[in-house]
Amino acid sequence: MGFVSAVESAALASYRWIGRGRKEEADASATKALREQLNAVSMNAVVVIGEGEMDEAPMLYIGERLGTGDGIYLDIAVDPLEGTNLIANGQENSTTVIAAAPRGSLLHAPDMYMEKIAVGPKAVGSIDIQAPLIVNLRNVARAVNKELSDMTVMVQQRERHQGIIEEIRSLGAKIVLFHDGDVTCAIAPAMETLGVDMFVGVGGAPEGVISAVAIKSLGGDMQARLLPGNEEERKRCILMGLENPEKALSINELVKSEECFFAATGITDGNFLKGVNHINESGRVMTHSILINGKSKTVRYIETLHNVNREKR
Ligand code: FBP
Repeated sequence: MGFVSAVESAALASYRWIGRGRKEEADASATKALREQLNAVSMNAVVVIGEGEMDEAPMLYIGERLGTGDGIYLDIAVDPLEGTNLIANGQENSTTVIAAAPRGSLLHAPDMYMEKIAVGPKAVGSIDIQAPLIVNLRNVARAVNKELSDMTVMVQQRERHQGIIEEIRSLGAKIVLFHDGDVTCAIAPAMETLGVDMFVGVGGAPEGVISAVAIKSLGGDMQARLLPGNEEERKRCILMGLENPEKALSINELVKSEECFFAATGITDGNFLKGVNHINESGRVMTHSILINGKSKTVRYIETLHNVNREKR
């Protein structure tokens, strides 16, 4: 529950920036709050996915030690504010997310693009990131027992996805386009209740590893491939221990242990989490969080009423 308190605090710290066009301030508030709370958790954790390299980010940088120092040894992946533009523009689907797993079991992914494909439990084993999209769509449709015309695919609305958007539509399948926040969108097929069959596209590698923890815990499947954009990014991969940076990665290479967990709190309303909302004039504010445990396979939805001092906001 220490992790839930941490994501709740970050969401509470950043929600006052909704719609104010100031994504840096929102991100900084969330990062500070998340770090403070994580440092109070009894654990010996190291940030493997964070706000950047040590020289780029003052807090929650890659390699930063977190926690009280006693307790279990963990790898932590954080995104204090997933969807910085969403919060700045007052749009849906911004969240605070963290993922954790035993030390050494999360992929150390640099901040670069990653190609991703994700599905829910019924379609485990039917994706292959190296195969053409049409093959994946057909195999997933067969696995979920649907016609291609009944398939729904989530794709981020980006110029770089124009080709796959046209291809999916030409095959008769439906597309749900989203602006930002591909963590919750990649998880959507594994939630099984959202009517999404597949997620495909290119997004951030850090977000990819965080999504993989939730997808694995929910019994879904994901494959990914890092896309270093130049020689410097390739070198960064190699320095991080990825000998063959362009290798196709299975979900078990993204997250090596079942003993992982994922926690998120909604900031603005999203795919499966409501945002932070005011309950009354005395300053009570409600947060909506999810905690997914990879070992027990439990999914907890947590609503918390916070007594926020209005003066402090
Ligand atoms: P930020 O919160 O860092 O702005 O990321 C939002 C996001 O939509 C991610 O969810 C996604 O992985 C990435 O941006 C895609 O990158 P780009 O905006 O460059 O297409």
